[in-house]
Amino acid sequence: MTARRTLLACLVVMPVAARAETNLGDELVDALEGAFGVHAGMRRVHAKGRLYDGRFLPLPAAAGVSTAPQFTAPTPIFLRFSDGPGIPNIPDGDPNALPPGLGLRFLTPGGAANDIVANADEGFPVRTGEDFALFLRAIAASGPSVAQPTPLESFVATHPETQRFLARPRQVPRSFGTTRYFGNNALVFLAADGVRRAFRYVIEPEPGLAAYTPEEARRQRPDFLYEDLAARLRQGPVRFGLVAQMAGAGDRTDDVTLLWPADRERLLLGTLEVTGEHPDQTAERELFLDPNNLPQGILLSDDPMLPARQQAYGVGISRRLAR
Ligand code: HEM
Repeated sequence: MTARRTLLACLVVMPVAARAETNLGDELVDALEGAFGVHAGMRRVHAKGRLYDGRFLPLPAAAGVSTAPQFTAPTPIFLRFSDGPGIPNIPDGDPNALPPGLGLRFLTPGGAANDIVANADEGFPVRTGEDFALFLRAIAASGPSVAQPTPLESFVATHPETQRFLARPRQVPRSFGTTRYFGNNALVFLAADGVRRAFRYVIEPEPGLAAYTPEEARRQRPDFLYEDLAARLRQGPVRFGLVAQMAGAGDRTDDVTLLWPADRERLLLGTLEVTGEHPDQTAERELFLDPNNLPQGILLSDDPMLPARQQAYGVGISRRLAR
C-alpha cells in the first residue's frame, strides 16, 4: 500500500449505516440540504474546515475510569476545526457561522476509528433526530416574507427545550483556541474493574475563553479563525484540556437538551495538543468522523440522538463522496 492509500484507509471507515437504506438518515440530510443548500463534495453541515495534526497526552486518572487505548499512552490525533453551517464560504465573523466545531480522531493502534465530534454549543435545541428534521424543515420554510406565525415560530412555541436553547447567548470566539467545545451526547466509561460511569466530553481551551462583540466580529477577515490558528501554531502547540463531566445521581443521559448541573465532577483526562496544519488538505475532505466510533472502554449511552447521528453522518459522507 502506498503512504497515501494507508492514510485514506485510516480516514475513511464507512459505517454500516452508509450502506443500508436509512430513512431517518436520508430525512436528516435532506433537511440539512434544505436549510443550507447542496455544495458538491462538502459536508452538509460544518462545511468550512481545516485539518490539523496533534497528540493527546493522557493523565493517570483517565485509565482509572476507562480502558480506552488513548488513556494509557500518548496518542497521535487528527483534529478538524470548522465553522458551523453547511455553507463552505461563510465568513468566520458572521453570527450564522456559529457554532464552531471540533472533530477529532485518536490514531490508536490497530487503526479502528475512535472519534470525538463536538461543537461550541452546550446542549442541543432538540432531543431526537426526528425533532431535528422537523426543526430544520421549519427553519428552511421560514423567512422575512413568510406569514406569521412562521413554521419556525410555531415549532419553537411548542418546544420549550428549543426556547431554552435559543435563549442562551452565543458569541463569536477570538480564536478556535479560545472557545470551549462540548461533546453533548452522553457516553459511558467502562473501567477495568467493570464499573460504568456516564459522562459528557468538554474540551477546555488552555488560554481560557475570549470572544468578540458582534461589531468586532463583523470587522474581522473572512478566514480569521484559520489565520489566527496558523499564527498561534507558529509560536508552538495550541492546547486544550480534555475533560469528562461526570453524571450525578438522577442526571438524564437520554436528553441532550438538559444540561447537567455545573457543579458535577469534572475529571481532567489529559491534554489535547494541536501541533500544526495537516500537510495534505485533500485528507480533510475524506475524513469521516462520527461520535459513534468508540474504542473499547467507552460505550454508547441511551441518548437517542447518537443512533440518529450515526445514520445522518453515514448518509452525509456517502452523498459528499458521490457529489
Ligand atoms: C441529530 C443531530 C445531528 C445531526 C443529524 C447531525 C448531522 C451531521 C452531518 C450530516 C454531518 C456531516 C458528516 C460528514 O459529512 O462527514 C455532521 C458533522 C458534524 N457535526 Fe453533527 N449532527 C447532529 C448533531 C451534532 C451535535 C450534537 C454536535 C456537537 C456536539 C455536532 C457536531 C458536528 C461537527 C463538529 C461536525 C463536523 C465533523 C467533521 O469535522 O468532520 N453534530 N453532523
